Amino acid sequence: MKTYIVLLGPPGAGKGTQAQKISETWSLTHISSGDIFRENLKNQTELGQQAAGYINRGELVPDDLTIAMIRERLSRVDCANGALLDGFPRTPAQASELTRMLFGFGGKVNAVPYINVPETVLIERLTGRWTCQAQGHVFHAKFNPPKEPGHCDYDGSDLYQRDDDKVETVTRRIHVYLEQTQPLIDYYRQRGTLLEVDGAQPIEKVTADLLAALVKIKSAN
Ligand code: AP5
Repeated sequence: MKTYIVLLGPPGAGKGTQAQKISETWSLTHISSGDIFRENLKNQTELGQQAAGYINRGELVPDDLTIAMIRERLSRVDCANGALLDGFPRTPAQASELTRMLFGFGGKVNAVPYINVPETVLIERLTGRWTCQAQGHVFHAKFNPPKEPGHCDYDGSDLYQRDDDKVETVTRRIHVYLEQTQPLIDYYRQRGTLLEVDGAQPIEKVTADLLAALVKIKSAN
């Protein structure tokens, strides 16, 4: 039985933070569309060059490029049992394509945990975020500081601030989310897969709520 979980929430809701914990507990491969794009930017691949302008402006990369990238990633052997998707889908077109794609892989979207965080909290979270160079682990100067400043707790690599975490770009990303991604909340609610969790709580409490909500699908599988 394959399990596909889609993490939904605005920029800075804590999708990456929580994905790490859920993927460990559920033994599911974590696929972050943002991480894949950043890896391609760093390696200056053709995809990275095509995506760069959109990412730097805080806009969405066109659907065709994003869908092809995710289809290729989901077809790899480490997704044989399913995957935890973080940052995809982000538009209604991506969501319908995901349904078709997963049908082809012999699965479906089993659950969509939606991490709900008020807009006012997001800017402080994103502008204070520090990300690890090696594997994308995330920290926060105030809410989740690393044990040793400037270094990742997990792999010791240097921490950096993302270019798209500047206030102007963050504001644009939130606007784009409200316009293009928020409609997916109703899309998945209507399909009975949405699991809403209050993301404006301490990280450990959000994790506990998410894992408790996901138990429901474990028993349904
Ligand atoms: P992406 O990397 O996916 O960015 P995002 O969705 O904007 O999400 P973030 O990574 O910014 O936030 P998060 O929810 O993961 O929060 P985190 O856990 O880090 O996408 C980047 C760009 O790539 C997009 O703008 C777009 O251009 C492109 N892209 C990606 N996917 C695409 C797609 N499908 N289609 C088209 N384009 C796409 O937490 C944030 C901070 O808050 C951290 O510092 C963390 O420590 C802290 N924190 C987390 N939880 C809590 C808590 N409960 N309390 C206090 N602090 C917390």
